[in-house]
Amino acid sequence: AAVHDKIRGPIQRSDRMLAIIGGSGLTQLSNLAIVRREVVRTPYGEPSGALTYGSLCEEPVVFLARHGYGHTIPPHLVNYRANIWALKQADVSGIISVASVGSIRADLAPGTLVVPDQIIDYTWDRKSTFFEGGETPVKHVDFTHPYDPSLRQRLLLATAAVGELAVDGGVYAATQGPRLETAAEINRFERDGADVVGMTGMPEAVLARELELPYAALNVVVNYGAGRADSAAGIIFDDIETVLQTAMSRVRVILERLCQV
Ligand code: HPA
Repeated sequence: AAVHDKIRGPIQRSDRMLAIIGGSGLTQLSNLAIVRREVVRTPYGEPSGALTYGSLCEEPVVFLARHGYGHTIPPHLVNYRANIWALKQADVSGIISVASVGSIRADLAPGTLVVPDQIIDYTWDRKSTFFEGGETPVKHVDFTHPYDPSLRQRLLLATAAVGELAVDGGVYAATQGPRLETAAEINRFERDGADVVGMTGMPEAVLARELELPYAALNVVVNYGAGRADSAAGIIFDDIETVLQTAMSRVRVILERLCQV
């Protein structure tokens, strides 16, 4: 890819242009060679921020910080519809979601990377469809497999290519937030079959499906779920911050390898 051409002219719409939605700890891609930023308006309101166009290992990518570039938008107030719509109009070929999660399973220690393959949605009161009457007929999308298999594979290959390990598969429990869970809620999620818990995976994934955008997630375990850590003190936010910083540097390296797999 001739990156310099893209700096001079408008970005060429490559069918390989991926979008990356960065979560907590990844409000910027420091290894992204930024070409331009674009403020997008959508019929659903404003996305979390401007789309940041750039290139990562010579491939064009679009980056969007899910919680805004200053990390000011809580999970339940993210305008998921505007974000996904904006990426669709940017003509991306797929979306990689990076999101930190809590661990429900003892063997998923903080610092573990997971590429989930299933979702259970416990969120409520979020705008979770583009098809809600008016001009748009009701539509029921198939969501049996919420994540795109080939994008998942690429994530796993890129992870292996940089000498990292990611757990292949897992059930992501999407909770409402912004508070963390009670210990009983984590126990319930475990009984339901969930492995990790986060606050942003839904409706993001289903909105991407509605617009036929392949979507996969790279989850970074930053803490044991409520009641699961050794500490009686509950969840320690300073610890989360430390894990988050280190893990997101590893994630940046993985994302940089995505274009080669
Ligand atoms: N619960 C919900 N979301 C999270 C957690 C958690 O423990 N850690 C990171 N995101």
